[in-house]
Formats: sequence, structure tokens, C-alpha cells
Amino acid sequence: MTTDQNNGVVSLKIRAGFGIITIDNPPVNAGSTAVRTGILEALADVSSQDVQGVVIVGAGRTFIAGSDIREFGAPLVPPKLPQVIAAIEDCPHPVCAAIHGAALGGGFELALGCDLRVATPDAVLGLPEVTLGMVPGAGGSQRLPRLVGIDTAISLVCSGRRVPASEAKTLGMIDTLADTTPEDALVSAGIAAIQAAPVKRKLRDLPVPPADPQAVKTAEAAALRRGKGRPNVSEAIRLVKLSETLPAQEALAQERGVFQNLRVSEDAFALRHLFFAERAATRIDGIDAPPNTIKRVGLVGGGTMGQGICRAVLAAGLPVTLIERDPDSRDRTALAMQQAMDGAVSKGRITAQVAQHRMDLLTVSDQIQDLADCDLVLEAVFEDMAIKKDLFRSLDAILKPGAILASNTSYLDIDDMASVTSRPGNVVGLHFFSPADVMKLLEVVRTSSSSQSSLATALWFAKFLNKQAVVSRVAEGFIGNRIYSAYRRQAEFLVEDGATPEDVDKAATEFGFAMGPFAVGDMSGLDIAWNMRKRQAATRNPDTRYVDIPDWLCEAGRFGRKTKGGYYDYINGKAQPSAITAKIIADARAAKGITPRKISPKAIQDRLIGAILNEAALVLKEGIAQRPSDIDVTLVHGYGFPRWTGGPLWWASGQTQHSIADMSDGVAVAAGTGHVSGDIEDMIAPLREARQDIDKRKLGHA
Ligand code: COA
Repeated sequence: MTTDQNNGVVSLKIRAGFGIITIDNPPVNAGSTAVRTGILEALADVSSQDVQGVVIVGAGRTFIAGSDIREFGAPLVPPKLPQVIAAIEDCPHPVCAAIHGAALGGGFELALGCDLRVATPDAVLGLPEVTLGMVPGAGGSQRLPRLVGIDTAISLVCSGRRVPASEAKTLGMIDTLADTTPEDALVSAGIAAIQAAPVKRKLRDLPVPPADPQAVKTAEAAALRRGKGRPNVSEAIRLVKLSETLPAQEALAQERGVFQNLRVSEDAFALRHLFFAERAATRIDGIDAPPNTIKRVGLVGGGTMGQGICRAVLAAGLPVTLIERDPDSRDRTALAMQQAMDGAVSKGRITAQVAQHRMDLLTVSDQIQDLADCDLVLEAVFEDMAIKKDLFRSLDAILKPGAILASNTSYLDIDDMASVTSRPGNVVGLHFFSPADVMKLLEVVRTSSSSQSSLATALWFAKFLNKQAVVSRVAEGFIGNRIYSAYRRQAEFLVEDGATPEDVDKAATEFGFAMGPFAVGDMSGLDIAWNMRKRQAATRNPDTRYVDIPDWLCEAGRFGRKTKGGYYDYINGKAQPSAITAKIIADARAAKGITPRKISPKAIQDRLIGAILNEAALVLKEGIAQRPSDIDVTLVHGYGFPRWTGGPLWWASGQTQHSIADMSDGVAVAAGTGHVSGDIEDMIAPLREARQDIDKRKLGHA
């Protein structure tokens, strides 16, 4: 490359005696082979020129959002990133990374190879490799501790946390916070930084700041706890600590070796599958309409769910009008919102200023007419069709034309609700999970008449709230609760057949679930499902297997944690096996003449996961979910399915056909049905193909 030229993705220009290397690889300037080649060529070119320094900057909306994740699953093509970073370090001129948007993974590692780093206030920086099943592979684990110390480096590397620029400045990850946004002014900030410190400063040659052993221990313990025993987390800790004891060159070589092994590990392929699945889930094939503008959100119903949704919308910075049914409820809800904000302040989650700003965005009223200027109104009232229909009629009369009308129902028919309005095209479902300001999943429900722009708006809204959207068609339980119900039913069958709730929960957590199904039931309250079962009793198919145990627990007043007893007893908040529950289970078995039998942990896992796979196959076949990977995203983000497996379908694609057939049959036998589903193999066929492709590439790697 010669001056003022480019290779299509990287260009070099000389401006006022400085070399400006611009990376332009939309959408996020991922560091592909072409980008690495371009930077290397530009550096070679500028090194021989008489310039005072070099600024590396990203075109468009970001610096470099990381190495190209698609390349990690195949043999890496030279030039590799460490080579590019070495060229930056060896460049005779000082090099400054001028960062806006994101400098993540390989992008941040490249910045760490520079002599200086300036960043705009909107920028985020970090090393998310661990969240992708790997460790940093181009010096991140060695250069970062030299800036921030061992303990902070352990927590940053092991969490993959994206650090906002102002905090990055405090921690020492960047040298200058450039109070500017446009690309041109950012380049000037980079030039100014070099003029202020026109020297080479290789991070790898700096000493690691002396560590406080206790702080390192604490950081390590927290990282291991969060890391749930995944091997890359302990490797990441080991590598960061090496920076203290080994010469940089040797430690860098070790880091590269570990990275090369881990990037082709099962976890890494699974997590890459999820990375792309998460993005695909936010799209509807064939729909490309622009979203409507949302300036104010209306919410009806200030119960637990309504308040959670309200907090999520306020946190994203949109004004909310929250409607309660009468002055008393209005005042109670307003107080509860204030108390939640105060609680967040006292726990140090947000500052008093942020809390005040959020409360300023909130209007709580008992006058439904106050929703007239809202662009999107979401109902979170009692799960009763008649109540919801009445509300939809009233809202339809009040809302301005084009406003979106959304329901947070978890299982009612939204098509039916839409039918009472004059705007069925503007009706969608927005199914949040509790607590709505914490849980990432948001099912966007598409009715048979939802318009393209309503769906685009709903998806925009989900992204704005920083939620993971998955699109579902109208169906009882949509994607997530429908599959989870099958899993929970199977857990009940297992207990009736002979396992204890503790056996089942243990097998589930050993598989990797955050909690077992019975611990989850106790936490969310057994009475909710009980009430639903009572409502559905009249229409239940008498031929399907039905377990009485949860009903009997509820009849005994055991609703879970909140009544200090459910499947477990809760003593000082700690779950203990319960003699009362054991007696109820024994009675239920006896009533059906079931002789309890021992079920191995493996058999329990097979039946639990088999139930998920069977139901997933039905959900796909019925067109409720758009694509197999959407189911993986749903189960991982909403139901504690272990992320590192890639979700149930990706996990299944790694099992033999024989064992999947066995699992499916086990579920069918337990349910007392015939063959439940022959569709699992069809469903996971594309994932099996992707795996075969991976195996071939792994061979290439070897
Ligand atoms: N490699 C390859 N593709 C990437 C990528 C990467 N590192 N980062 C993002 N992309 C792709 C996405 O797959 C998406 O492609 P699509 O439009 O075909 O679906 C596109 O870039 C836009 O990404 P998206 O996440 O939808 O945009 P955003 O504006 O919401 O977020 C980022 C931008 C940079 C914050 C986000 O993309 C991100 O976090 N990227 C991953 C960063 C990372 O983990 N890097 C370290 C790799 S070791």
C-alpha cells in the first residue's frame, strides 16, 4: 500500500505530518484477515515516512468490535493479530488508538499494542473472549494487568465486562477521554495525545503494578464462582497471573497456545453458535420495515410485572405513564417505584442522580385518558381474557392513530384480544420475564394481523431496552413457557416414578441449569400454576398423565418459598428436604399403585432434556418459532439452560442419533403416549451439518 491508498477495508492518509490509518469494514470493523493485512501494509508504508506519529481510527459507528468471530472456527489465515500488534510496537513512530463505539476483544488488544489510547465518552472497552469460551489470544491477558493491576485484570478478563470510557480512564485502560464524537475531531484528539507525549511506550515492557494478594484472591474467587467451572476461566486467571512472574515474551507465547486450543473447544463453538443465534433471533424473515418512533410509553397495571417493566423502560431513558385502577393503587405503586429506586441507590447499583432522573421520567396516574399521547401502550393487568379485552376496547378508543397496543400476557390468545380493537395490525405481544428489569429475554409475539411496522417497532423497542428478543407466534405459553411446561411435567413424572425432588434438581444443576425445576417452582410460587390448572381442569384431556403432587402440596398450603414450604422446607431461607413433601409424594404414588424405582442421574437428565427436545420439535413444526436457533436463545436467556452448551438444540446436535432416539422414547413412555416426536432429527439436521463442517475445519486446524 502506498500513501493515500487503501486495500478496500484499511486506508492510510497523511495529514499535517501524521499518518492516519482508518479501518472501514462495516458493520462493526471486525478484524478480518483483510483488515489485519491492510493494517500491516499501512504500518509498513508509514514506518518509512517522515511523520510525527500514527493514529488508528475506525470509520462508521465504531473502532474495532473485535476479531471476526466467524474466523475463529477455522485455521487462522496469516497475518495473525499478534504479528500486527508487534508491527505497531516496532513502528518507529508513536501510535495512538483513537477509539469510539467499541474496542472489544482483538480490537482492544490492538489498542493495547499502541503507545497511547484516547476514547470518546460513548466508547466501551473490554475483553469478552471468555464469554465466547476462549481467552484473549493477542496479549490482552499480559498487557492489561500492566495498566490496571492483577486483581482488576482478573475480573475484567474473566467477566468480559464492557467498560465505559470514563471508567476505563479511571482504571488506566485509556490515557485520554476525548470530549468529542465526530471521527475527524477524534483523529485530532489522537494527534494531540501524541504531540503531548511523543514517545514510544510498549506496554509489554512496563512492570506489573504490585498486587495486593487479598484483592487477587477475592477477584479470583469471584471469577471462578461466576465462571461455573468452565475451563477457560481458570486458564484466564492463570494467564493473567503469569504476567507477574514470566517475561512478557514467554507469557505471550503461553497465552497464544491456550487461545489456539480453546478457540476450537466445544464451548467455543457452542458460544459462537449462540452469538449469531442471538442476532438472528431479532429478525423476522421477509420483514424489513422501519420502526415507528417511540417517544413515550404507556403501561397499564402496576403489579410486580408492571413495575419491573416500568423500571426497565425508565432505565433505558424513555418517559413512562403508568396507569393504576384507583387513587389508592396509584399512590401505592408510585411509592413502590420510589422505594425500588431508593433501594437501587442504597445497594450502589445507581447513583441518587440517576434515580432522580428516572423518577422524573415517570408519571403515575389513575386516569386512562393520560395515555392519549403514548406511542406504545403495554398492558400488564390480571391474566383474564375478559378484563384484557375490556381494557383493549378502552385503549383503542383513547390512543392516537398508529399507536402500538401490546399485551404482556404469558399464555392468552392475543389474536382474540386484537379482534376487539379497530387496529389489529397495531397489536403485538411483549412477553417479559420476571423480574422484568433483570431478565434479558423478551418474547415478541406476532399475531395473525400484526403489521410489519408494528413488529419492527416491537423489535426496536426490545433492543432499546437491551433485551434479547425472540419472535413467537400466538400459542399457549408461546415458545418458552410451552417448552418449560413440558420439562416441568417431566420432572413431576420423574418424582412420581421414584426420584425425589432433590434427585431431579441435582441432576438438572449437574447438567448445568442455574436451578432445578422444583427449586424454581418454589421460588416463583406453586400457586400460580395451581390456579391455572384449576381453570383448565374442565377441558383437560383425561387420557393424558396427570401428577397430583403439586396440587396436593398447594392444598396443604405449601406454595413455595413465600410460605416457607413447597417441594422443600425453607429454614432460615435455606432449602431442606421436606418430610411432609415426601409423605405427599408417597401418598400420590400409592394412590396410583406406582412402586417407586431408582432412576439414575443420567436417566433423569435424559428425560428432562428429552422433554425439552420433543416439545421444541412440536413448537417448530407448528410454526410457533421461526428457526431452531431461536429455541436455543429462548431457553438460555429465559430459563437458565447452560449457555456454554449453546442451548438444547445445539447440545442435541452433538449427541448420537441413537441417544437422541432413546431420550425421546423415554419421554414418550413416561408420558404414557405413543411415539412423541420423530421430528427432533429433522429439527437439528442443520445444526448437525454445521457440526460436521466444524469437524472438518478442526482437522484442518490440527
Ligand atoms: N465478528 C463478526 N461479526 C460481528 C462481530 C465480530 N466480532 N461483532 C458483530 N458482528 C456482526 C453481527 O453478527 C451482526 O451481523 P448481522 O447484521 O449479519 O447479524 C453485525 O455485526 C452487527 O452486530 P450487532 O451486535 O447486531 O450490532 P450492535 O450495534 O447491536 O452491537 C457491538 C455492536 C459491537 C456492541 C456488538 O456487535 C458486539 O458486542 N460484538 C461482539 C464483540 C465481541 O465479542 N468481540 C470480541 C470477539 S473476541
